[in-house]
Parts: sequence; C-alpha cells; structure tokens
Amino acid sequence: MAKQIALFNHKGGVSKTTTTFNLGWMLAKKGKRVIIVDCDPQCNLTGMVLGFKKCLEINKNHPQSWGNLGICLAMLGKKEESLKAFNMALAIDPSYSPAKTNRILVESLKEGEELKEEKFVSINFNKEKFLHQKSFVNKN
Ligand SMILES: Nc1ncnc2c1ncn2[C@@H]1O[C@H](COP(=O)(O)OP(=O)(O)OP(=O)(O)O)[C@@H](O)[C@H]1O
Ligand SMILES: [Mg+2]
Repeated sequence: MAKQIALFNHKGGVSKTTTTFNLGWMLAKKGKRVIIVDCDPQCNLTGMVLGFKKCLEINKNHPQSWGNLGICLAMLGKKEESLKAFNMALAIDPSYSPAKTNRILVESLKEGEELKEEKFVSINFNKEKFLHQKSFVNKN
C-alpha cells in the first residue's frame, strides 16, 4: 500500500512546495518509488521538476509560467528574452499584475545585468480563479 504525504499550510510562502520537492527527491534517492503531485495552479512544483519551458509546452496559455520564466531569464541577465516572456504572460492575462511589476523592474536593467532575487514580486495571484477551471491542465 502506497503511503501518501500531504503538506498543508494556509499561509503563503512557507516552503510547502520546496519541502514537497526535497522530500520527494530524498525518498527517491533512498530507493523509494515516488510520485509527486502538483495540485497548485501556480505550477511551481511542476516548474521545479520540469522547468517552466516544459510547463509551457504542456500549457502555453499559463501566464504564471510565462511570468516565472521571465523572472528566471532576468536572473540570468537575459533582459530581452525576459521581457518577451512577460509580454506573453500579459498577452494571455493583461491584469496579471506580478508580470506587469516585474516587467517594469526588468526594463530598468541593462542586457546582461542580473535581476537580484530580493527584488522581484512573487504572490499568489488569481489562484482561486485557476482552481475553478477544471480543464486548466490540458488547455492549449
Ligand atoms: N528551507 C529553506 N531555506 C531557505 N529558503 C527556503 C526554504 N524553503 C523554501 N525557501 C524559499 O522560500 C520561498 C517560498 O517557498 P515555497 O515556494 O516552497 O513556499 P510555498 O509555501 O509553497 O509558497 P506558496 O504559498 O506560494 O505556494 C522560496 O523562494 C523558497 O526558495
Ligand atoms: Mg507552493
């Protein structure tokens, strides 16, 4: 019988996703057969495992993955590519405010200059809206 472990906390940003990822990783490293299930429409766990580009291959209409990709590219100093990713996020959802704010931040950088981790905006935006979209995962 498979054991199921759930990590739950109402509070945001307290390491639910990171702990899930590391717990799954370590159990697998110890030889256990592990499946980690991402039920969060932010797709951060999926992004952590697959990378945001792969998430976007699964669903190219996911503004949060475009926004997350934009942050990653900016942290690598790839300003132009980052701005394109934010533009994609905003083309899908013009009201997606984290992408708007982060885009402004990245616009102020020079190409090659890396966005610092403490500067970007990361919030639970529109989580409820996506939770109610049953066809969310496979919608292209
Ligand atoms: N043990 C740790 N030490 C330092 N930083 C950590 C640790 N665990 C998580 N973090 C950092 O804290 C931030 C929030 O973590 P995480 O995304 O896992 O939280 P969460 O509870 O899943 O958030 P959300 O409610 O948005 O889903 C991330 O930037 C992560 O890298
Ligand atoms: Mg999380």
